[in-house]
Amino acid sequence: MIETGEGIDWAVAEALAFATLLVEGSHVRLSGQDVERGTFSHRHSVLHDQETGEKYCPLDHIMENQNEEMFTVSNSSLSEFGVLGFELGNSMESPNALVIWEAQFGDFANGAQVIFDQFLSSGESKWLRQTGLVLLLPHGYLGQGPEHSSARLERFLQMSDDNPVAIPEMDPTHRKQIQECNWQVVNVTTPANYFHVLRRQLHREFRKPLIVMAPKNLLRHKGCKSNLSEFDDVQGHPGFDKQGTRFKRLIKDQNDHSDLEEGIRRLVLCSGKLYYELDEERRNVEAKDVAICRVEQLCPFPYDLIQRELKRYPNAEIVWCQEEPMNMGAYSYIAPRLCAAMKSLSRGTIDDIKYVGRAPSASTATGFPQVHEKEQSEILHNAVQPEPIEYHII
Ligand SMILES: *[C@@H]1O[C@H](CO)[C@@H](O)[C@H](O)[C@H]1NC(C)=O
Ligand SMILES: *[C@@H]1O[C@H](CO)[C@@H](O)[C@H](O)[C@H]1NC(C)=O
Ligand SMILES: *[C@@H]1O[C@H](CO)[C@@H](O)[C@H](O)[C@H]1NC(C)=O
Repeated sequence: MIETGEGIDWAVAEALAFATLLVEGSHVRLSGQDVERGTFSHRHSVLHDQETGEKYCPLDHIMENQNEEMFTVSNSSLSEFGVLGFELGNSMESPNALVIWEAQFGDFANGAQVIFDQFLSSGESKWLRQTGLVLLLPHGYLGQGPEHSSARLERFLQMSDDNPVAIPEMDPTHRKQIQECNWQVVNVTTPANYFHVLRRQLHREFRKPLIVMAPKNLLRHKGCKSNLSEFDDVQGHPGFDKQGTRFKRLIKDQNDHSDLEEGIRRLVLCSGKLYYELDEERRNVEAKDVAICRVEQLCPFPYDLIQRELKRYPNAEIVWCQEEPMNMGAYSYIAPRLCAAMKSLSRGTIDDIKYVGRAPSASTATGFPQVHEKEQSEILHNAVQPEPIEYHII
């Protein structure tokens, strides 16, 4: 991947983020259940000699005479509460280290709920103590039942304190919006964006907790790849972009609509792996007049970029599409904010935000894989079908 500069996947992007921070002199620390291997066997940050059992950690050997304490990766015991609490303290004591806790499945993070509620979401506001702790919560609706589908994004979004009705000052050079918000919640869809969001944690003069709604199937998805040119901005590199490479809070539709932006009849906003499914469905039914935009950073809400996209497609019906039930996922967080962005452009009211996703439900997901498949294909069908959308609750 590195030699061709193409097809960098999730695990390599993560290793590059860790390695570049180490070379810059920062410490990196990762703990959680099975993190050395990675729950989904993608990370392999520790290799074992089959005969002697001896361990080898490649990231301990990227510089001459590297201090092996700079990089720590450690399988934890089966506790969310205890381990996350420990890492929270760690991140406060070592603000210049990248400290990460990964849940085995995002679903199990709820075992650490007290730490989110009491400390992580509100610690800066209550005690003026900043932390740049990172949470990786791998999840996704893949038909594996109610205990292995949802990292409960809605809970993190409900605890976010960015203003849902008033658009704040958005000039990115002042970074005021992010500093005034209690934490960041992202659901990134490309390896390069994952790399940048991790590095951004340390390349700032303030610290904010980062909740990453990490994926499961994107770890190996053939479409989920980035080129090396999206990681660095070395001039002369193929694909070099004058703006430099950076974290993208929103990824605009990848199709070239320059000849028919006014003819786009629907703008579908979504986040996470659902994007790849929607894009494939759009290709299958040749729905060329549908644009799909990925909201990579949900909180704080990218008002400026959302408005840029609303202006790009002046005649489009606006849809929020998610795979979670309506009372979960990002819908209730997105709706008032999207509405504020639309209102200030005279682009309609809350009734003009169409919802495509699962019906409200007590359980996060069905236990039957066949039911899951049926629901999932209805969501995809409804999001790109030609009729105007009423409330399509699946
Ligand atoms: C870490 O977890 C993995 C996966 O369960 C296991 O293979 C490995 O032996 C563990 N390492 C240690 C040091 O316990
Ligand atoms: C967040 O990302 C995950 C994994 O890619 C996906 O399953 C989920 O639907 C996304 N959530 C929302 C609200 O977009
Ligand atoms: C990566 O580079 C190849 C060759 O230049 C190009 O075809 C492909 O579209 C690029 N992929 C991305 C994700 O930019």
